[in-house]
Amino acid sequence: MDYGAGHHKSERAVPEDGPAFAFTPERRARLEQIAAQYPPEYRRSAMLAALYLAQEQQGWITGNAMAHVAEVIGCSRAEVEENVAFYTMFYTRPVGRNVLQVCRTLSCALNGAGRLTAALCEKLNVKPGEVDATGDFTVIEVECLGACDRAPVVMVNDDWHERARPEDAGELIEGIRARGGAALSGCYLDIEKKLTAGADPELHARSGAGGKG
Ligand code: FES
Repeated sequence: MDYGAGHHKSERAVPEDGPAFAFTPERRARLEQIAAQYPPEYRRSAMLAALYLAQEQQGWITGNAMAHVAEVIGCSRAEVEENVAFYTMFYTRPVGRNVLQVCRTLSCALNGAGRLTAALCEKLNVKPGEVDATGDFTVIEVECLGACDRAPVVMVNDDWHERARPEDAGELIEGIRARGGAALSGCYLDIEKKLTAGADPELHARSGAGGKG
C-alpha cells in the first residue's frame, strides 16, 4: 500500500555495534555493588546504572555495549535497547565532551528555547545532534526537564542552567569552555535549599535573589 510521501516514518534504527566493549574491572565492581542492593531476582533493576557506567566509559552507548550490559545484567539485548531508546540521557551516537540538552517543551518553547537552540547551533556551527569541530559540544533538544518555572532550561552533562537567554548563547559556551560547571546557574530549588540552611553571599547572587530571579 502506498501511504504517500507524508506518512509517519520511525527514526529508530538498529544501533551501530561499534568497537568491542566490556566494563573495566573498576566499573564492573561498581556495578556489582549497585546490583547487590536489589534481590537477586531483580538484578535487572540495576540496568540504568549499568548503562550510565557504560556511557561514562565510552562516551556513548553502542550495540556492543548494550549486548555487554544485557549479559552482565541478565536480560535480552532488546530489553536494553528499549531502555536506551526511551531515555534521552543515553546517547546512541558519539557526542561532544559537553552535551547541551535544551528543553523544548511548552514553558521553555514559549520562553525562547527554539531561538536558544538555534543560537547555540549557530555559535558552534552544528546542527542538533552533531559534534562541533573542537569535539567539545553537542546540542540536543529534549522534553521537559522539570524546572518549567525557570524556563528555558539547559542541562549540561550532569549540571543545570536555568533562564538561559538566546542572546547569552555565546557567553554560555565560552563560560563552559573556561570554567565547566561553574559557569552554570545551577538548580534554583537546590540553591534555595542551601540558602535556607545558611547565609552564603555567592549562592545568593547565583540564585538571582538579588533582582535577576
Ligand atoms: Fe522546559 Fe518543563 S517545559 S523544563
